[in-house]
Amino acid sequence: MADTDSVKETKDFCLDVPYRHEAFFVKGSTSLDWGMQNRLAQIFNPASGRTVMLAIDHGYFQGPTSGLERVDVNILPLTPYADALMLTRGILRTTIPSSFGRGVVLRASGGPSILKELSNEQLALDIEDAVRLNAAAVAVQVFVGGEYETQSIHNLTKLVDMGSRYGVPVLGVTAVGKNMTRDARYFRLACRIAAELGAHFVKTYYVEEDFETVTASCPVPIVMAGGKKLPELEALTMAYKAVNEGAAGVDMGRNIFQSDAPVAMIQAVRKVVHEGMKPADAYELFLTLRSEKK
Ligand code: R5P
Repeated sequence: MADTDSVKETKDFCLDVPYRHEAFFVKGSTSLDWGMQNRLAQIFNPASGRTVMLAIDHGYFQGPTSGLERVDVNILPLTPYADALMLTRGILRTTIPSSFGRGVVLRASGGPSILKELSNEQLALDIEDAVRLNAAAVAVQVFVGGEYETQSIHNLTKLVDMGSRYGVPVLGVTAVGKNMTRDARYFRLACRIAAELGAHFVKTYYVEEDFETVTASCPVPIVMAGGKKLPELEALTMAYKAVNEGAAGVDMGRNIFQSDAPVAMIQAVRKVVHEGMKPADAYELFLTLRSEKK
């Protein structure tokens, strides 16, 4: 029993101070429950409102992609610089130390390999396993305009329902098939559909023309997908333009881990995303960090 002899009488109720109430900082998330918001705050940095996610989930349909042959060797040195990791539960359990303290975004769809029709995905993760793994979010691909469009959208809506039961946000990833046009009109359509059907944030590609209309018409945050490997200055420029045109950060894979200096590259990307560093300056930083490493 607690000692009650020296209980101090409570008296300072700060009656002149209104009860503190802070609006949640992530776009479209103010009405979400505490657990959802807390998980989103493990992905989006509350100071900048943005995120640098490191995507290393490629193996779920591509096998050992270049740069991901040995996640333990090549990726673990990058993890201190990522706000969140996007990956499969297989790589998480086998390779990422459980002391990793930031956001884990678990790939939750899969099925076909690169040898088959990629849009023919199904859900590939039970929400209870996501909770068991302390995931900050789960991610599912939507193939708007693809052969299995409806099936992929149903994967999203089922995952949103499952996530809602446990307070786990869903990342909708707009997949672009080989024959689909990559323009703002298409991405407005795909991102808006994902958000309307419950995605809490959306991953999509940057387009040079009218990208700000994609971010403006999407009621939840957009994180820019990296796409195929570009020269570092071009990748940093793309990230700079995306965040300046309304993206809430990036979810980059190959443009980081296929760089010849991935640790330098992810640090340069962080400067662009979180501090608004100009691409030329970020590229200088990349070169300096790269030469220090050598
Ligand atoms: C998209 O299909 C998957 O999530 C990829 O495995 C990955 O996220 C793509 O990343 P990046 O295009 O930046 O290499």
